[in-house]
Amino acid sequence: MMKLSSFLCALALVGLMTTKAAVAAPQRISPGEIWPDNRGEHVQAHGGGIIKVGDTFYWFGEYRAQDNDPAKRYVGCYSSQDLAHWTFRNKVLQLSDPEHLGSPRWVLERPKVFYNAKTEKFVMYMHLDGPLQPGGRDYALARVGVATCDAVDGDYQYLRSFRPLGQESRDIGQFIDDDGSAYLIFESRPTAGFYIAKLSDDYLDVEKVVSFVHAPLEGGGLVHYDGWYYLIGSKMTGWKPNPNVYAISKSLAGPWSEFQNIAPPETNTYGAQSTMMLKVAGTKATTVIFMGDIWKPKTQWDSRYLWMPLEISDGKLRLPEPRPWTMDVETGEVAFSNQFP
Ligand code: DGJ
Repeated sequence: MMKLSSFLCALALVGLMTTKAAVAAPQRISPGEIWPDNRGEHVQAHGGGIIKVGDTFYWFGEYRAQDNDPAKRYVGCYSSQDLAHWTFRNKVLQLSDPEHLGSPRWVLERPKVFYNAKTEKFVMYMHLDGPLQPGGRDYALARVGVATCDAVDGDYQYLRSFRPLGQESRDIGQFIDDDGSAYLIFESRPTAGFYIAKLSDDYLDVEKVVSFVHAPLEGGGLVHYDGWYYLIGSKMTGWKPNPNVYAISKSLAGPWSEFQNIAPPETNTYGAQSTMMLKVAGTKATTVIFMGDIWKPKTQWDSRYLWMPLEISDGKLRLPEPRPWTMDVETGEVAFSNQFP
């Protein structure tokens, strides 16, 4: 008979081998597929954004589950250590028509969360919109809403809504520069362009325009990579995909280059619309991930995600054809399906 100590040793060995196998085979990210969370439910974080707290990524976005109360709008929060397995944390915001628009067609879109180290608060921006009176034109309010919380995945308290710097604001994007400064990107239709604007010290206000990019685009995202700022956006075709474009600049304040397609235009960005670019700096490589939404306007709970590592260097950016891939967030390295064992 095997002695207890040898049995325990064997058990530990099996455990070690299993852990090794798990480490050796990271979970695939499959663009366009259902993305199950830890509950087996499709992740509801549409039009989203990601922040990293410690070694954990938090993904916030529109929580559009089929069983939502139709009078409310929700923001979902998920956490992950590897960007592939996502744990549902909380519906961090559950709002009922905060500006009393009185129309069931009010919207909360593209929530983004920032962490303010001075106030130790998490600050959420969201696009708040809807008709100004029942039966009025959709998307007429054109404001940002702000909510805060002491914990990343706690219940956020709605504070107020406003037009940043007095401008109409619809799609919003977030950008945190390498020095930690926080910016809101917002699309303004009357001035036909993107504002890149610095947040106030406490992040509760939008303080000053750093750049105005004259291009009628939405779905704005920004990344700083290897000496260049890359600004990304989509054309204005509602929920329908279109060729997303990018411009570059050596400085956030511009001047910005002409816009160019990020993918062959006939693919309409492979059916996706930009929401953010996430930079993952590992020990061996720095990878920038394009995060996009594949919207399904009639069944929004089933809208999918297109995440792909961008090919990016020397002021050029390209979204490669979507295919399953894996990432090691420690090293920053990625592998694609044709390289899988
Ligand atoms: C495009 C925007 O990017 C989305 O966030 C959403 O507002 C749709 N338009 C609505 O048509």
